[in-house]
Amino acid sequence: MESSPNISALDPIVALAKRRGFVFPSSEIYGGLGSCYDYGPLGVELKRNVKDAWWRSMVHRREDVVGIDCSIIMHPRVWEASGHVSNFNDPLVECAHCGLRMRQDQIDAGIEKCAKSENKQHAFGEPRSFNLMFKTHLGPVEDEASTVYLRPETAQGIFVNFLNVVDSTRVKLPFGIAQQGKSFRNEITTRRFTFRTCEFEQMEMEFFCRPQESAAWYEYWRKERLQWFIDLGVSPERLRLRDHRPDELAHYSSACADVEYLFPFGWSELEGIACRGSFDLTQHAQHSGKTIIWRDQANNETLVPHVVEPALGTDRAILVFLIDAYTEDEVEGNPRTVLKLHPRLAPYKVAVFPLLRKDGHPEKAQEVYRMINESYHAFYDDSGNIGRRYRRQDEAGTPVCVTVDHQTLQDDTVTVRNRDTLEQHRVKISALRAELAALFGF
Ligand code: GAP
Repeated sequence: MESSPNISALDPIVALAKRRGFVFPSSEIYGGLGSCYDYGPLGVELKRNVKDAWWRSMVHRREDVVGIDCSIIMHPRVWEASGHVSNFNDPLVECAHCGLRMRQDQIDAGIEKCAKSENKQHAFGEPRSFNLMFKTHLGPVEDEASTVYLRPETAQGIFVNFLNVVDSTRVKLPFGIAQQGKSFRNEITTRRFTFRTCEFEQMEMEFFCRPQESAAWYEYWRKERLQWFIDLGVSPERLRLRDHRPDELAHYSSACADVEYLFPFGWSELEGIACRGSFDLTQHAQHSGKTIIWRDQANNETLVPHVVEPALGTDRAILVFLIDAYTEDEVEGNPRTVLKLHPRLAPYKVAVFPLLRKDGHPEKAQEVYRMINESYHAFYDDSGNIGRRYRRQDEAGTPVCVTVDHQTLQDDTVTVRNRDTLEQHRVKISALRAELAALFGF
């Protein structure tokens, strides 16, 4: 459910993202391509950190989840079995004046308007179904038989590999299979930056369990996923869990809750947690003719597991981390823009500056930079006055700046400046590593 539009409230974040190299419009020198975006040098680091934080929490720090990485193009029958060929549609209405196809809820919310008529009054035809999957052809012949789809979700790669994972690992029910990767949907997008795009990344985990345990696991994953955002610094008061009404449920799910975030344009979905029951495994068993069941040799148990699925959009998570971290405050009477990103997510953890570009400062600062960069991704900057260098790192979200000055050459201490508190103090270079570890918590 997306509520009242305030799209311009995103402008400062879009501007900062461009200015500092987080997110660029795709193909910009050709005028851009609607709702396609590229991650720049800082954005790609942020994205890796978000994906790593998710993988760490969902796979590495658990004993009951393994990972997988499936191909984007799959057998077309996968999408018949999953229901996407027949059900993955958006009902769209076409404007009689400008010919634009729009979603009814976007018109109702005042987000979409006729581009041509003066008073924005427009006549619509009856809603028609448009399938959201991108079609292409595999091989040299472009005919019906060679039609394939770009996956609209990563989940199906997990379901069709259920038997492979069970046979090749020592997983025991309950267990999960996690995947990160690109998905594609030919969506009507609504100028909300990276919130909804046609090409995006997902981080999904299918958690297989005994049917009678699925309600408890659903509760567990709802809480766990909400907490993940809070642990990474997102304001708890801007997060909520919202249960879907029966009429909102996707074709495969019996219960679903969204983690919602209070975006500048209102409360909107960030992540979905769905009870998919045995729908997918049963469908693939029927369509493939394979027996897809869980067999426990020890107690002679066979069953079709039920599935609880936390499904998050990587780009949408990144947008939330950017929005939530974006802060305007004042330093010594001057306005400052700062990204208060969690240290785990910050593209650079530390920036190292020589106070001057002479007197041995750069050599010493390079030494400190190389030492820190062994443990934490660091950035070296010797250009411009020190105040301006601090501002640049504030906008990049770098939690700590370390400055080498005259005193460093005498007593081997550096100035450590905290992005959020602006507090500065001197630390022995030999104690720097431990100080940073204590501050970051890793
Ligand atoms: N496998 C279930 C599934 O795909 P979904 O609610 O359609 O569920 C999960 O998608 C998440 O993926 C969403 O909560 C959202 O974060 C992200 N997502 C979905 N469509 C998106 C789009 N067009 N652009 C960006 N992110 C999207």
